[in-house]
Amino acid sequence: MEMIQRPHINLEIDEIDQFKVKPNDDELRFGATFTDRMLLREYKNSEWQTGRIIKHQNFSLPPETIVFHYGQEIFEGQKAFTQESGKKVIFRLDENAKRFKKSAERMVMPTLEEGYFEESIRRLVEMEKDWIPKKRGTALYIRPCMIATEPALGVHASTEYYFFTILSPSGPYFAEGFAPTKIKVEDKYVRAVVGGTGAVKAGGNYAASLYAAKIAQEEGYSQVLWLDAHEHQYVEEVGAMNIAFVLDDVVYTAPLGGSILPGITRKSVLQLCDDLGIKTKEVALSIDTIIEGIKTGNLTEVFGIGTAASIAPVGVLGYHEENLVINDNKIGDVTQRLYDELLGIQYGSIEDRHGWILPIE
Ligand code: PLP
Ligand code: COI
Repeated sequence: MEMIQRPHINLEIDEIDQFKVKPNDDELRFGATFTDRMLLREYKNSEWQTGRIIKHQNFSLPPETIVFHYGQEIFEGQKAFTQESGKKVIFRLDENAKRFKKSAERMVMPTLEEGYFEESIRRLVEMEKDWIPKKRGTALYIRPCMIATEPALGVHASTEYYFFTILSPSGPYFAEGFAPTKIKVEDKYVRAVVGGTGAVKAGGNYAASLYAAKIAQEEGYSQVLWLDAHEHQYVEEVGAMNIAFVLDDVVYTAPLGGSILPGITRKSVLQLCDDLGIKTKEVALSIDTIIEGIKTGNLTEVFGIGTAASIAPVGVLGYHEENLVINDNKIGDVTQRLYDELLGIQYGSIEDRHGWILPIE
C-alpha cells in the first residue's frame, strides 16, 4: 500500500489487479457503468479516518444500519471532461464541495476538512482518467455521497458514516439527448417546502418525488415540473434540474427561496447570460403567466439546467390535460447559445474566463 501526500490530505491507495473493459463512447447511457476504483472514507469514534482509494466494490452493512431506515444520506453530482486538446478537467468542483457541506450540516452529518472533498475527488479522477470519455456530450459523471452507517433503530443522527465517491462514464441523461423533452406540470403533489430539505441534496427529496414522476411517465412525460407547495402556482424546478423560461427576451428562473436546489449549472448559466448580454430575472413565474405566454407567443423557450441534464430544451409542457407546445417543439436560439457556450467552456473550445475548470493532471 502506497501513501500519497496531497496538499491537505493523506490517501491510502490499494493496488488493484483486475480491470474492467471500458465501454465505447457511442454506447454510453447515464450512470450505468462504473470505473475500476472508488473513494471511501469512514467516520467513526468521532473522527474521520484516513481515506482510501479502493477497487469499486459492494458494501457489507447490517440490516439495522441507520441509512436503510431513516434515509440519512446526501450526495453530489459533477462531471469530468476530456477537452478537445486531450486535457482532462473537472467542472466547478469547489461549488459541489460548498453544497455538500451545507447538505451535511442540514442532515446533521459530519463535515469534511477544508479542501478534502476537492482533493480526494481530484486524486480519484486522476487515477481513473482513462475512463473519461472523449465524445462531445459524454463525460465522467462524479457521484460523491455520504451515508449514515451506525447500526441502530432509534431515530437519531448516526455516529458513524461513509463518505464515498464513485465514477460513471456517461452519455445524455435524457433518452432524447439534446432534442426537446416533454414535461408535466405537477399540480397535486409537491417536492419540497420552505423549511424542509429541498435546498440541499438529500436522497429523501428524490424518494419523495418518485410517485409523481411515475404517474407523469405513465402519461408519456419524461419528468415533472414542480410548483410551489402553498399555492400550486409558482414554478420551482424539475425532478433532476432547475428550469428557465425565455419570456419577452428575458431568461427567468426561480429564486433560491429555500425549497429548490441551488444548482451549479443554474449559477453558471446566469453568469453566461450576463456575459452574452442576455437579461435575466430570478423571479418565480406563475403557471398562469407561463401558459398565457405560450399562447400569445411571448414565451419563446423553456430549458432545464443541471449537471446530469446539461442544458435540456423543453418542447412540451403538460398542464391540466392540455399539452402546450413551445417554439414548435424546436430548440430555441437562447437555449442553443447557452448550450454552445457552456459546452464550449467544458470541452475547452471557449476560454474558461471565470476559472470554472479544474485541471486534473
Ligand atoms: N435541481 C435538482 C432537483 C437536481 O437534482 C439537480 C441536479 O443536481 C439540479 C437542480 C441542478 O443542480 P446542478 O446544476 O448543481 O447539477
Ligand atoms: C445531477 O445533475 O448531478 C443530479 O444529481 C441529478 C440527478 C441525476 C439526481
